[in-house]
Amino acid sequence: MKIRTAVYPVAGFGTRMLPATKAIPKEMITLIDKPLIQYAVEEAIDAGIERIIFITGRTKKALEDHFDVNVELNNQLELSGKIDILNDMKRISEMVDIIYVRQKYMLGLGNAIMCVKDIVKDEPFAVILPDDIILSKTPAIKQLMECYDKVERPIISLMPVAKNETSKYGIVEIKEMITDKFSRLKDMVEKPVNNPPSNMAIIGRYILTPEVVSALDKIEKGVGGELQLTDALRYTATYHDVYGYEFEGKRFDCGTKEGLLEATINFAASNEKLKNVLKEAVSSLNIL
Ligand code: UTP
Repeated sequence: MKIRTAVYPVAGFGTRMLPATKAIPKEMITLIDKPLIQYAVEEAIDAGIERIIFITGRTKKALEDHFDVNVELNNQLELSGKIDILNDMKRISEMVDIIYVRQKYMLGLGNAIMCVKDIVKDEPFAVILPDDIILSKTPAIKQLMECYDKVERPIISLMPVAKNETSKYGIVEIKEMITDKFSRLKDMVEKPVNNPPSNMAIIGRYILTPEVVSALDKIEKGVGGELQLTDALRYTATYHDVYGYEFEGKRFDCGTKEGLLEATINFAASNEKLKNVLKEAVSSLNIL
């Protein structure tokens, strides 16, 4: 079955980015000139996704407004002849069909995914965590969708991490390599404190099937007292193949100050207009 829906769990509080995220959703933080969420939505559109579901919470109004029409702003832009900007504003509000679902209590990523059960029904769907921004030639989610077309099973995006970083991620155990990037998985553990099964970490792109959503009903709360998506995938892997794909691209964790800084520098370096500004700014620094 074709993947036509992308789900964005965006209900979290973003505590690592406080105070920036006190009144503004983490996903609305700007990277160069666009909020993080817009990069994540453009990635899905470039991959051919037709429908988007945002799982939001109480403080996410700015995110909803960003993808809505702002009639007063459009009128003002038209009056002042700023037609290019006006067209860009219209493009954002016409990007794609969006459904908003509320997660009432922050009970974890797994619980957030459960909120879309009655919307996706028996369809497979993509999941994108917008604070993982990926700079790549082919949109990262498209790379996973292409794997899905071959096996029609859940696919998890993977990235190697340093051994001392494994406790920050979900970590997988590989059963067999199918190609040098594509693997069948044996197991996965959320934030292992001791003996991580490998150094391959789960990043915020997934293709999920209804089996994984059903597994969320069967598992117990995991790390941090939250319902963990990794645990549902682990449960699924006990009776149904689950695959991993080491995507091509550079990933930035924009849910942290360090990651956002790194992303800003990399995006500026690959932007024709900003490259020289970055060069000059760096050469005038005296930090070494
Ligand atoms: P994070 O672990 O990054 O949590 O969630 P967070 O609240 O966004 O940020 P910190 O850790 O407090 O700084 C991973 C993704 O899952 C979503 C978040 O919005 C984020 O996109 N999420 C998490 C939910 O939608 N609901 C939850 O209950 C938990």
